[in-house]
Order: sequence, then structure tokens, then C-alpha cells
Amino acid sequence: MDDDAILDLCCGPTLHVGCGPGGLVAELTRRGHVALGIDVSPAAVVSTVDRGGSALRRDVFADVPGQGRWHTALLTDGSLAIGDDPEALLRRVRRLLDPRGRCVVEVGPGTDPDDLAGPARAAGLRVVHAGRHGSRFCLVLAESTDGAAG
Ligand SMILES: C[S@@+](CC[C@H](N)C(=O)[O-])C[C@H]1O[C@@H](n2cnc3c(N)ncnc32)[C@H](O)[C@@H]1O
Repeated sequence: MDDDAILDLCCGPTLHVGCGPGGLVAELTRRGHVALGIDVSPAAVVSTVDRGGSALRRDVFADVPGQGRWHTALLTDGSLAIGDDPEALLRRVRRLLDPRGRCVVEVGPGTDPDDLAGPARAAGLRVVHAGRHGSRFCLVLAESTDGAAG
């Protein structure tokens, strides 16, 4: 149920960054999305494929298929911590997205949208939605209109 609500935020071809076991990628695929999970963990890739999703073993900071063309990038369950630098991760995610694309980020329950506004702005993104989805809290980031960050 909570997963469904998060997946409802995904539009068009979706890249799940740090997809873990792959349940979300599999469900997006069942829904008819072009969906790809990437993860540095071989076990995550195997699990995602076993569930019926597509996944590749990739470091998000290295070569990723479809760079600049993804409509949604999904970061769930703590994946904002990949690389231990949210600004660097968001900057990288922005380059993976189509300029009209969006990044759906699941954050911890105590997170205020303002907590992410700074790193998002520095990465050239802005918060366009913040909301609780079941027990999970998500922010949606889109390309900033003020021309910040390259
Ligand atoms: C906190 S887990 C979240 C798993 C999944 N998103 C979920 O919702 O269950 C973070 C995931 O990111 C993966 N990961 C860590 N560093 C990565 C990197 N540089 N590029 C891609 N995936 C990475 C880990 O292997 C792990 O599966």
C-alpha cells in the first residue's frame, strides 16, 4: 500500500537508484513502466531480476544507461545517503534525468522539506512536492527554474 503510493509519484521511464531487492522495480514493470534498477550489489541485481524487474550492477556515479533521458529517478529507504553526500548524489541524479524529469526521494519521518532544500538547490533542483504516503514521507524534486548549479 505504501509502496503503491510512492510508485504513483513515478512518471514515465523510471530509474531506481540503489534498488535493493527490487520489489519497486518489479511493480513498476508490472504497471507498464520502462523501469530499471541499478545497484552496486550483485545480490540486489539478482533479486530484482528474480522478481521480474530489470536491473544492472552499476555505481550511480559511473556510467548509467539512458543518462539525461530518465523521466523519474527514485531514491528510497535511505538511498539518499549513497555516497554520504546528498548534494553530490542529487547533482548526479539531475544529470541522469531529462530536463523535465523529477526525482522522488523517500526521507526519514523527522525530515523537514527545508532540510533538503539546500542540497537540492545546490544541485540545481527544487522541492515541488512534499507529502506523507502511508507511513512513508516523500519529496519530489524538479529542475530549478533559477538557473542555479551546473
Ligand atoms: C539503504 S539501501 C536501499 C535499498 C532500496 N532502495 C529499498 O528501498 O529497499 C541502499 C542501496 O543502495 C545501494 N548502493 C550503495 N551505493 C551505491 C552506488 N554508488 N550506486 C548504486 N547503488 C548503490 C546499496 O547496495 C543498497 O542496495
